[in-house]
Amino acid sequence: MQENIYRKLLDNASDLIWAIDMEGKFIYINNNISEWGYDKEELIGQPLVNILNTKHIGKRESVPSIMGFHQTIEMEILDKRGDAYKVVVKSSPLLGDDENIIGVMGIIRDVTETQILEEKLKNEERLASLGRLAIGIAHEIRNPLSSVKMNLSILRKRLNPAGDDVEHFEIAQEEVANLEKIVMELLDYAKPMSLNLRRQNLHTQIEAVMATMESVCKEKNVVIKKKFDKNMEMILFDRMKFNQALLNILLNAVQATKTGGHVEIETRLVKKSPANLACIIVTDFGKGIDPADLKFVFDPFFTTKKTGTGLGLSIVRNILNNHDGTVTLSSKPGQGTTATLELPAS
Ligand SMILES: Nc1ncnc2c1ncn2[C@@H]1O[C@H](COP(=O)(O)OP(=O)(O)O)[C@@H](O)[C@H]1O
Ligand SMILES: [Mg+2]
Repeated sequence: MQENIYRKLLDNASDLIWAIDMEGKFIYINNNISEWGYDKEELIGQPLVNILNTKHIGKRESVPSIMGFHQTIEMEILDKRGDAYKVVVKSSPLLGDDENIIGVMGIIRDVTETQILEEKLKNEERLASLGRLAIGIAHEIRNPLSSVKMNLSILRKRLNPAGDDVEHFEIAQEEVANLEKIVMELLDYAKPMSLNLRRQNLHTQIEAVMATMESVCKEKNVVIKKKFDKNMEMILFDRMKFNQALLNILLNAVQATKTGGHVEIETRLVKKSPANLACIIVTDFGKGIDPADLKFVFDPFFTTKKTGTGLGLSIVRNILNNHDGTVTLSSKPGQGTTATLELPAS
């Protein structure tokens, strides 16, 4: 009875538990191995190293003990399909009934998710400090800039310029207006966001945003095609903020599209627990994003456009984060880009 309980504990533990004999072949492995696509019976008698990627060995720690070595090694496990996952392998000697070493036992813990989470946290910290710096600068620039703007306009009136000088004034005033736009966008981006949440029809809002895109689309002769999921539920969101986010996404898509091309917008209600997801998928068939650029596109000020501010996507991410949602971008260079917004539904 007792042994039965121990066996169940081992078999169903949340980590992978294993034991090998002196030849390095499995003599025990728990049910967790099925998460990597293996059948535990097929592995018994096979070498442990068969499922490990011994080429990518990371940090290694070895603590000697009376019975040999306790080791902790960062390495990769290969699943049945051959895909590699980061794991930590801990091992210690396996003792027989008369206390002699008959093999090695240990655990294997999947650390992929922990690592992704760590990366994400690091990235967010970096962006937060970058943001604080930029906002400090924007504040410093705002007042002198309005002073430049006002004085330019006073001078222009007073001097009543003619000929080339008109153009000089125009260029100066346009550039000041551009700077003002950037400063305003930045301060807007930095403002703590307070949401005005209401349960409402997502499709109505998408159509409203499409309507505001009309003139931009006409100019480039681009059509936005919609495909709405008729099962979509009423969704809780801030109308103005959502509009701003979707507008930024659609603008990028239309900007990436060649004259006469089209952009697709699709909605999908994805059944999930604990809450369903409302997905809004915007696809364009433009030049796509260079893989080296893809990890920077959500950073404030990252832009590859001549007159871009690089704030569009960082504002989108901010808005979606505040809704407990997500935004992701995937792209095939030369073929196009897909932006996916996800909002929690019911
Ligand atoms: N649909 C898209 N197709 C190609 N590149 C895109 C797309 N969306 C975003 N990007 C890339 O991401 C960068 C950042 O976008 P964004 O934050 O909106 O700033 P901006 O539009 O001002 O450049 C763009 O400059 C562009 O390089
Ligand atoms: Mg943009």
